[in-house]
Amino acid sequence: MTRVSDAIKHKSALTKEEWREYTKTVWSIANVSHGAHPAVFPLEIPHRLIKLFSFHGETILDPFAGVGTTARAGIPLGRRVVCVDQSRRYVNIIKKECARVHNGHEILEQSRLWQLQKQSWQRSELWRVPCRDSTRV
Ligand SMILES: C[S@@+](CC[C@H](N)C(=O)[O-])C[C@H]1O[C@@H](n2cnc3c(N)ncnc32)[C@H](O)[C@@H]1O
Repeated sequence: MTRVSDAIKHKSALTKEEWREYTKTVWSIANVSHGAHPAVFPLEIPHRLIKLFSFHGETILDPFAGVGTTARAGIPLGRRVVCVDQSRRYVNIIKKECARVHNGHEILEQSRLWQLQKQSWQRSELWRVPCRDSTRV
C-alpha cells in the first residue's frame, strides 16, 4: 500500500463543518436538472464523496458518467477523473464542460477556490453553483 504524505493529507483535509455535515446519516440536497440529460445528480453529492473517500491527486472512476457531474466536482478538488458513458453525445458534453472547469481552475489559486466553495456551501447553494462560475471571479 502506498504511503500518503502529510502534505497530501493536509491538501485533502475536510473542515470541521464539512466533516460534521458529510457524516450525517441523512443528506438533504436539492435536486437539479440539466438541459441535455434527464437524470443528473447534484454536484454536491460527488463533491462530498470525493472529499470523504479519496486523497488529492488520486483518480476517480465514474463508469456511468452522464454529463460529467463527477468530473466537475473532482477536478477543482485536484483529483483526476475518468468518465465513461455509452452515449457519445454525453461524452462530448463532458469534454466541453470539463475543459472550462480545468481552465478556470488553473487561473484560480486553490485557497481562493476553497474559500468560494465554503461560502457557497454555507449558503447551501454549492450544488446550484457550477464550478465554472466559481472560477470566473
Ligand atoms: C443516471 S445517469 C448518470 C448521470 C450522472 N451522474 C450525471 O450527473 O451526469 C446514468 C448514465 O449511465 C449511462 N449508461 C447506462 N448504461 C451504460 C453502460 N452499459 N455503459 C456505459 N454507460 C452506461 C447512461 O447513458 C447515462 O448517461
